[in-house]
Amino acid sequence: MIVISVVSLKGGVGKTTVTLGLAGAALRRGVRVLVLDLDPQSNASTVLDPDAAALTAADVLDQARSGAVAAAAVPSGWGADVRVVVSETSLSAREAAGDRDPLRLRRALGRLDAGYADGSPAPALVLLDCPPALGHLTRNALAASDRALVVTEPALFALHGAAQALDAVEAVRQGSNLRLAAAGIVVNRVRPRSAEHRHRLGELREAFPELLLEPPVLDRSALQQAAGAYLPVQALRSPGAREAAAAFDAHLTHLLGTDLGSGPLAGRSSRKAGRR
Ligand SMILES: Nc1ncnc2c1ncn2[C@@H]1O[C@H](COP(=O)(O)OP(=O)(O)OP(=O)(O)O)[C@@H](O)[C@H]1O
Ligand SMILES: [Mg+2]
Repeated sequence: MIVISVVSLKGGVGKTTVTLGLAGAALRRGVRVLVLDLDPQSNASTVLDPDAAALTAADVLDQARSGAVAAAAVPSGWGADVRVVVSETSLSAREAAGDRDPLRLRRALGRLDAGYADGSPAPALVLLDCPPALGHLTRNALAASDRALVVTEPALFALHGAAQALDAVEAVRQGSNLRLAAAGIVVNRVRPRSAEHRHRLGELREAFPELLLEPPVLDRSALQQAAGAYLPVQALRSPGAREAAAAFDAHLTHLLGTDLGSGPLAGRSSRKAGRR
C-alpha cells in the first residue's frame, strides 16, 4: 500500500482533479484505491458520489486511532474498488484550531493495510486530497504519506510555488516523517498554444528535470464535464477526455512503480526530496 498526498501551495490549481484522475486510472486498471478527502470544501467527496457515510475525515482526525480510516471508508459511486473517506465542513474548524499534533492521520491509517473494517481487501493506493494551504490538515497528510505529489499550473509564480511546496514536504520529512519524499510535480491546465504556458512549462522542466511528470495535463473541458457528471474522466469518450486519461495513466504508472524500499530511509532521496 502506498500513501500519496496531493498538495499545492495555491488553491484551484487542480489537486482534486489530479486526485480524481488518478483514482479513475486506478479503477480502469483494477487497482484498489482509497481517496481521503481532507478539504473542507468536499469537492472530491461530491464527485465520487459515495454511499452515505457515518464517519468523515473529521471523525478520523478526532479519533486518531488505528483502524479509524478503515472504518470510515465507504464505496464510491464509481465502483466498490474506489472507496472514499468523505470530508465535512467542520474540518475547517480543525484547520483553524491550531492543533499541533501532526500524527493524527498517520495513527488513523494504522491497520488499513490489513483491509477495510467490512472485511474488503486493503487498497493498493491511498490518495490524500489536501486543502489549498500548508496548514494542520496538509501537515497531517504529509506526515502520513510515503510520497507527495505537487500540482501546479504553468503560470507566473509556478516555479516559486513548486519550490515552496517541495520545501514544505522536506520540512515535514525532517520534522515528523523520514520516509516521505516527493513523488513528482504534475503541471495541470496546460494550453499548448499559449506561448506563456510553453515558457512556464519549459522553466519547470529545466528546474525539476527529475521530478516533472510527463505528459502535463492539458486544459480540457472534459475534466469539468466529468466532475459535473460525477464520473471519472476515463468514462468520457471525447478526444480531450482520452488525452487526460492517458496522462493520468502515465502518472499512475510512475506512482505505482515507486520503490518504497529506495526512499529516504534507504539513504538516496535527499536528492529527490529536497533537490539539494
Ligand atoms: N486540466 C483541466 N482542464 C480544465 N479544467 C480544469 C483542469 N484542472 C482543473 N480544472 C477545473 O479547475 C477548477 C479547480 O480545479 P480543482 O478543484 O481540481 O483544483 P484544486 O487545486 O483541488 O482546488 P482547491 O485548492 O480549491 O482544492 C475546477 O473547476 C476544475 O474542474
Ligand atoms: Mg481541491
